Amino acid sequence: MKFDSPATTNPIDQLQVVGRPTPRIDGPRKTTGTARYAYEQRETPTAPAYGYVLGAGIAKGRIVSMDLSAARSAPGVLAVVTAENAGKLDKGQYNTAPLLGGPEVAHYHQAIAVVVADTFERARDAAQRIRVRYEAAPGAFDLAAVKDGAPLAKPGPDGGPPQTAVGDFAGAFASAPVKLDATYETPDHSHAMMEPHASIAAWQGDRLTVWTSNQMIDWCTGDLAKTLGIAKDKVRLVSPFIGGGFGGKLFVRADALLAALGARAAGRPVKVALQRPLIGNNTTHRPATIQRIRLGATADGRLTAIGHESWSGDQPEGQPETAVGQTRLLYAAPNRMTAMRLAVLHLPEGNAMRAPGEAPGMMALEIAMDEMAEKLGLDPVEFRIRNDTQVDPEKPQRAFSQRRLVDCLRIGAERFGWSRRNARPAQVRDGRWLVGLGMAAAFRNNMLTKSGARVRLGRDGIVTVETDMTDIGTGSYTIIAQTAAEMMGVGLDRVNVRLGDSTLPASCGSGGQWGANNSTSGVYAACMKLREAVARKLGMDPAEATFAEGRVRGGGRALPLAQAAGDGELVAEDHIEYGDLDKKYQQSTFGAHFVEVRVDPATAEIRVRRMLAVCAAGRILNPTSARSQVIGAMTMGVGAALMEELAIDKRRGFFVNHDLAGYEVPVHADIPHQDVVFLDETDPISSPMKAKGVGELGICGVAAAVANAVYNATGVRVRHYPVTLDKLLAGLPMPV
Ligand code: MOS
Repeated sequence: MKFDSPATTNPIDQLQVVGRPTPRIDGPRKTTGTARYAYEQRETPTAPAYGYVLGAGIAKGRIVSMDLSAARSAPGVLAVVTAENAGKLDKGQYNTAPLLGGPEVAHYHQAIAVVVADTFERARDAAQRIRVRYEAAPGAFDLAAVKDGAPLAKPGPDGGPPQTAVGDFAGAFASAPVKLDATYETPDHSHAMMEPHASIAAWQGDRLTVWTSNQMIDWCTGDLAKTLGIAKDKVRLVSPFIGGGFGGKLFVRADALLAALGARAAGRPVKVALQRPLIGNNTTHRPATIQRIRLGATADGRLTAIGHESWSGDQPEGQPETAVGQTRLLYAAPNRMTAMRLAVLHLPEGNAMRAPGEAPGMMALEIAMDEMAEKLGLDPVEFRIRNDTQVDPEKPQRAFSQRRLVDCLRIGAERFGWSRRNARPAQVRDGRWLVGLGMAAAFRNNMLTKSGARVRLGRDGIVTVETDMTDIGTGSYTIIAQTAAEMMGVGLDRVNVRLGDSTLPASCGSGGQWGANNSTSGVYAACMKLREAVARKLGMDPAEATFAEGRVRGGGRALPLAQAAGDGELVAEDHIEYGDLDKKYQQSTFGAHFVEVRVDPATAEIRVRRMLAVCAAGRILNPTSARSQVIGAMTMGVGAALMEELAIDKRRGFFVNHDLAGYEVPVHADIPHQDVVFLDETDPISSPMKAKGVGELGICGVAAAVANAVYNATGVRVRHYPVTLDKLLAGLPMPV
C-alpha cells in the first residue's frame, strides 16, 4: 500500500482497541521469566559453547604479535579466533571500524580475539592467557583540542546538509538590539541498556542462525552476511525480546560476528555476551559536542538571527552528531545559519543514541533560549511562543503537517503552576533548600520508512501477525496486536504477534522513534488486504464490509470472521510505503518539559522534585506504553542533565568509566513525580494510523529544563554538561 495522500476516515478511527490504555501483552512472559532473551535461547541443535571477547588494550596502532599458545592449551578451550585465522571479512555497511580488529587497532577495546571454551569461566580464563604486544600510535582523543581544524561534515544519510544559511545572519546578528553568544558542551554518553549485547550462533552447513539482541533485523541480517561474505538468505537473525537498545543495537556488533566466527571454528553453537566492562568502548556511544549558539532579537523578543554551530568527532569515515537539526526548524527568524563540523578522533565509534541530533542539540539550544529570555526580561514560555512558526523557517513554502508547540507550552505552564516561578534566580527557599523551576521546548522529527507484515486468519478465528519488527521494551507487541484487533474487529485475546525474526516480512525496525507509526502502518496495510480477502470469501462487497465483535457484516448479513478461513487459513501480506508527503510537509513532534529542582546551598546536591512533559505526537496508539516511553526518556534526560558522562583518558584514548559502577544513570530514588500529558490529536499526513513517534520526543529538551531549573534555583549558569555539584559550588549563595 502506498500512502501518498492525507488519510481519510478508516477502520482505525473506530478506536475500539487502538488508542486505549492497554497493558503489555508480553507483560506476563516478561514478569514470569518465560520471555527468553538472546543469551537464554534454547533452540540450538546442541548446547552452545561459550565465547569470551578480548578487547584491544590500546586506542590506536598495531598488534605486533599475539601469543595464543597458552590460551589454546588451557582447559576446555575449543577455538581461538583472531583476524589472522578468521578468514576474509568485509566491513559492515553500518560499522565505522571493523568489528574484529588486528593487526590494525582502530579503537580501545575493539575486539581482537574470541576464545571459545566449554564453560564461560574457562573461556574467560583462557582469554587472560593471550599475550599481545602492541605498537601504539598517537591519536586524537580531545575534541576541544582538535575542533578548530575540523572541516564541515559531509552530507550524511539523515542529518541533512552540513550547513544551511538563510538571509544575512552576520549582518542581522551584528545589528540586533539584544544578543546572546554562548558555547555549550555535551559529553560522550553510553546507551547503558540493561541487557548487554549478546548472541548465540549456530551453523547448519552453510546456513547461519543467530539469536541476538538487535533493533533492526533486516539491516543486520544483510550486514552480517556482508561481513561474513555469504548470501543474505543464508543468514537468519532471531531477536524476539530485547532488554533495551537506545540505538546501541541498531547495528551488528562484535557479539554477533564473533559468535558466528567462534561457532564456525569450534564446530558447534557458541554464545557470546559482551562483558559489561567492554561495552563502553567496544560498542558505539553518543559523541560529545561543542555547540556555539548566537541569538539576536528585537527588544520585544522577536528573534531576528539564529546561528548554531556544532562540533563533534568520530573515527575516520564517521558521522557527525547532527546537533543543529532542530535549530533549522524550531523557531522563526529571518536570518539564520547552521553548520556541523566533524573532527577525526580515535575514540571508540560514535553513533546514534536515543534521539541522535535533537537530544544533545536541545540540551544546548534550550539553555540558550532561557538565557536569551532572561536578557529580554521575558518569561521563557512567552519568549518561545512569540517565536513560533507554522512553516519550516528555512523553506517557508513547506508547512508543518501539525505543529502544536504553543498548546504544549501553554498547557504545560498551566498544569505545572509555572506562574508561581520567581524569574529572579536564587530567591526561593524551602527550609535550607534552594528551589527552582525550569522549562524547555521539546522537538523531534517524525521519520517515515517502509514496513511490511503478514496476517493470518485461522479457522479458530485467531489472527496472527508476523513481521520482523522488534520490541526493545517499547511495547511493539502490544500496539501491533491492537492494530490487528482493530482492523479485524476482534478482541486482543484473539490476536497473536510474532516479531523479531528475519524469516518474517521486513519491517521498519526500532529506531529514531519511527517504530510505532511505521510498523503498525505496515500491519494496517496487510490487514486491509486480509479484510478484502475475507469479504470476498464471505461473498460480501469488500468496500462495504465492516468488522466488529468477531463478525463481518455486509449485504444485510453478519457472519463469524472465522468462517472466512474455511478449513485452512487466509493469509495476506503487504507493506506500507510512502510517497512524498514528508517532502511536501515537515513532519515533527512537539512538546514542553517542565522541571522543579531543589539544590542544597552547602553541598550543591541537586534533587529533581517533579517533572511534567506535554507531548503532541499525533494519535497515541497506546497511552500506557507511550507514557512508559516518555517517563523513561525523561529519566534519561535527567541522567544527561546531572550524571551521564563517559570520562576520557586523553593520553591513552579510552572511556575510563566503562561499567555501571562508574557510568552513572538515574535510579528510582533520583526520580520523583513524573507527569505526562498527550495532546488529543491526529496527524493524517503521517500515515493511515495518523500517529507519529513519541519515545524520543520525551528526552529532547529535558536536560535543558533541568539545567534551567538549577539556574533558577541558584543563579549559577552551567553550560557544560553534566551539571555536577563541582560546577555549582563556587557560585552558590550562602546557606541560611
Ligand atoms: Mo534510536 S538512537 O534511533 O534507536
